[in-house]
Amino acid sequence: MLQGGNGERDSFSSKFGVIAAAAGSAIGLGNIWRFPYVLGQNGGGAFLLIYLIFIAAIGIPVMMSEFVIGRSAQLNPVGAFKKLAPGKKWHLIGLLGVVSAFIILAFYTVVAGWTLEYLVQSVKWMIMSNKIGFSQMDNHAVRSFFSNHYESFISGIWRPIIWFLLMMFFTGYIVVSGVKNGIEKYAKVLMPVLLVLLLVLVVRSLSLEGSREGLRFLFKPNFSTIREAPVKIIIEALGQAFFSLSIGMGTLITYGSYIRKKENLATTAVNVAVADTLIAVIAGMAIFPAVFAFGIDPGEGPDLVYITLPVIFQSMSGGLIWAFMFFLLLCFAALTSTISVLEVIVAYFSEQLDMSRKKATVLATVSVGFLGIICTVSPKFFGVFNASPDLLLPLGGFFIVLFIGWFLAGNKSRDELSSGGIYKARYYRLFIFLVKFVAPLAIAFLFALGVYSRVITLFPKIGG
Ligand code: PFF
Repeated sequence: MLQGGNGERDSFSSKFGVIAAAAGSAIGLGNIWRFPYVLGQNGGGAFLLIYLIFIAAIGIPVMMSEFVIGRSAQLNPVGAFKKLAPGKKWHLIGLLGVVSAFIILAFYTVVAGWTLEYLVQSVKWMIMSNKIGFSQMDNHAVRSFFSNHYESFISGIWRPIIWFLLMMFFTGYIVVSGVKNGIEKYAKVLMPVLLVLLLVLVVRSLSLEGSREGLRFLFKPNFSTIREAPVKIIIEALGQAFFSLSIGMGTLITYGSYIRKKENLATTAVNVAVADTLIAVIAGMAIFPAVFAFGIDPGEGPDLVYITLPVIFQSMSGGLIWAFMFFLLLCFAALTSTISVLEVIVAYFSEQLDMSRKKATVLATVSVGFLGIICTVSPKFFGVFNASPDLLLPLGGFFIVLFIGWFLAGNKSRDELSSGGIYKARYYRLFIFLVKFVAPLAIAFLFALGVYSRVITLFPKIGG
């Protein structure tokens, strides 16, 4: 993925390398774990519709803006703003991104650790399936079996911590040893395999009795669900869009700084956003039919897919072998995301604080390690961290689009987007319109609404 050395700045080796790396960052637990359960808690189809609008109208422009900033400055998020706006306060956005990276990496790697638990368990379930007696169980009993397993795993202390630390170690190891090259090669093969497995799951899930209801839930907007808590639902859709695309905290500023000048930033952004969204929707198509077929509550929460997936797998012939493959790929998809988050912190430490890459990686990995351990032992802490991207990422995104729309000289962003005139960038006026007005106004409006509704719940009298 990254090439170079000898004091020269690293860069992605090919057009496909850029897309694979950025898509590797975007596609992960956000698509397969977080998207289905957040959608499930927020009423289904209507949430999906709002989510898609946010991806297109806000997500893609923010992603392009991050690429523009990163590639024109050739630095980490803090350094990039310092370079493009010397003597101004814009670099604080970069700092906000680094803080967000700590928080997100901590809880995200905890969930990534769960994939290792399920990887091991699927082997155990495979070996013991006769003894457990899956074939004699009815839907209710199967569901309880897996939900009890999740409960006992998550309430234990050591196993979640050990899996988390292992994932943290892998992440640090990959970032420090520069085996990203290898990762790029594997990603090219494994990501398409993940897609195929997801499609197999969709087919299986749709063949279950009572599964149609799941598709209706996912695709048919029912706006009455939104009326109950419109502000919460819209804000969570925006937060999920940012989280899933890996935008709003400088991850793609960092990756943008490794993109070669001749690459087309707009098509990269569109390709990544489309791939990311497709995977999320397909994950939904695998999960919800089974959720309804097995009578699982779609609003179950963070455990939704960790109960639903094993349920689907054990209903397939040779299913637990599929389970093993699936969790392995999910673990890999999570790793290509965790390394992108760690890279933000490491690039900042090494470029701004003058540390060696190795020292920077060790320091970042160890400190995130502590935060993550707190997340594993305290559900409250985990909950707060897990909810924080909904706020932190749109906030970062708000300033990023303001910077591109109102601060950075127009010819600079145009020059980046056209790669110095190689591409026509015919969409440029639409892009500027979106980053100048639509994205910042929409985010500001939603934030104001969010704060207002908080105040109303705290002090009901103000609302009348
Ligand atoms: N986009 C990743 C996912 O959907 O799993 C998570 C993530 C990675 C969020 C990088 C933010 C980020 F900067």
